[in-house]
Amino acid sequence: HEIMQPGMPHHGMRHGVDDVVKFQTIQQAARPLAIPPLLEGTLNEQGRTVFNIVAQAGENQLKDGDATKTYGYNGNVLGPVLSMKQGDKVSIHLKNTLPEETTFHWHGLVVPSDVDGGPHHPIAANGGTGQIDFTVNQEASTAWFHPHAMGTTASQVYKGLAGLIRIEDEEQTKLGLPNTYGVDDIPVILQDRNFTVNNQWDYKTSYEADGVYGDTLLVNGTINPYFKVNAKIMRLRLLNGSNARNYTLQLSDGASFRQIASDGGLLETPVTMSTLTLAPGERAEVVMDFSKYEGQLPALVTADGTVVLAFERGTMSDRGTNIPQWQRHKNLTVNPNTLQESMMAKADKTVVMAGMAEAVTINGQKFSMDRIDLTSKLGSTEIWDIINADSAMMGMMHPFHIHGVQFEVVSRNGKPVAPNEQGFKDTIQVEPGETVRIKVHFTQPGVFMVHCHILEHEENGMMIQLLVK
Ligand code: C2O
Ligand code: CU
Ligand code: CU
Repeated sequence: HEIMQPGMPHHGMRHGVDDVVKFQTIQQAARPLAIPPLLEGTLNEQGRTVFNIVAQAGENQLKDGDATKTYGYNGNVLGPVLSMKQGDKVSIHLKNTLPEETTFHWHGLVVPSDVDGGPHHPIAANGGTGQIDFTVNQEASTAWFHPHAMGTTASQVYKGLAGLIRIEDEEQTKLGLPNTYGVDDIPVILQDRNFTVNNQWDYKTSYEADGVYGDTLLVNGTINPYFKVNAKIMRLRLLNGSNARNYTLQLSDGASFRQIASDGGLLETPVTMSTLTLAPGERAEVVMDFSKYEGQLPALVTADGTVVLAFERGTMSDRGTNIPQWQRHKNLTVNPNTLQESMMAKADKTVVMAGMAEAVTINGQKFSMDRIDLTSKLGSTEIWDIINADSAMMGMMHPFHIHGVQFEVVSRNGKPVAPNEQGFKDTIQVEPGETVRIKVHFTQPGVFMVHCHILEHEENGMMIQLLVK
């Protein structure tokens, strides 16, 4: 396969890239999609829901031939899906049995920085432990967790450390969306990896400063996966858990589907889509209506035709044949009545992402743990302009992420955003030459990371610190 050599003037070719390193077809039998266990936690006497999470090393028969040495949470690769409800008081016991330091970051959780698991909160190698307590203060959504240690975030995620968090709330439960885990509500974690001749994932030999790409697609750690469909209406919780690759997803027959949620919860209203692009760190919940198919079901594919997930006919029972509708998500503050005002406002902060490879910066500087770059007032709401300074012809998209908040998207280059971006987000695609305006409400105190979610860019310094006080 064609791998871009470090230092090659490949920047321009990376624009819009799903195709930097093409996926190869893996000649091995299809396997059932791995469904990570749903971890409910146990209620203690203090009324707290307790989770135990262990980062551990192991190996996995991912490919025919040698087993692959991997990292995982409570298992050999990836992790369980943590089940939480709005209002839950949660305690998480952390343990690191890896031979290296790690942290446990809760991407998308709106929690104070001292429990957020950024680079300031390492857990020692070979048995280090920690405990964090917080209250789930946000609405139903799909968040995720992954390591965030200084200098090793990218390699540890690549090794297999990532898991989903499923947050539920009463309002959403009442809507009657598919929510039977593993049956009509399934996680779909997209990742790309390179396998060595001995079937290993070797981060170093795959390294590329503008982002590590793999030629093999895995979904929930499964190569060539299929899922047996036992419900007519299926809900997929999509996570782009790749270090750098973007995925443009569609159904193989071109049929439409509904996107119901973005990173932080339900959209303003369900949106009919035929393709959906996810950058690293982004999530989307989509609903597929398979009731109209008599025979074979379409597959989930990428824009260039790679099969992501095959769907096989199962019992296809009726578990509610209607996709619930709602009008007007009441927690969103950017709506037709307020849009104009947010668009006209003067930006409170401007964040400029620039450069490529080792030379990436934010606002002209590289990350330093000893420097606070931005300060915002606890309880305030601000308008931020996020600028990708790459030239529109030559640059690459940077997925911009803020810890500890769920923001709303106001505009792209001064124009209203697409309906599927009218919801809560914590990670947003910013195209070369583009200015994305967001509205952020700061409810959690502390020092938070703000960065590009191409993990190699983050490691190379495309990250700053925000103090909320
Ligand atoms: Cu996915 Cu700084 O995080
Ligand atoms: Cu995060
Ligand atoms: Cu970037």
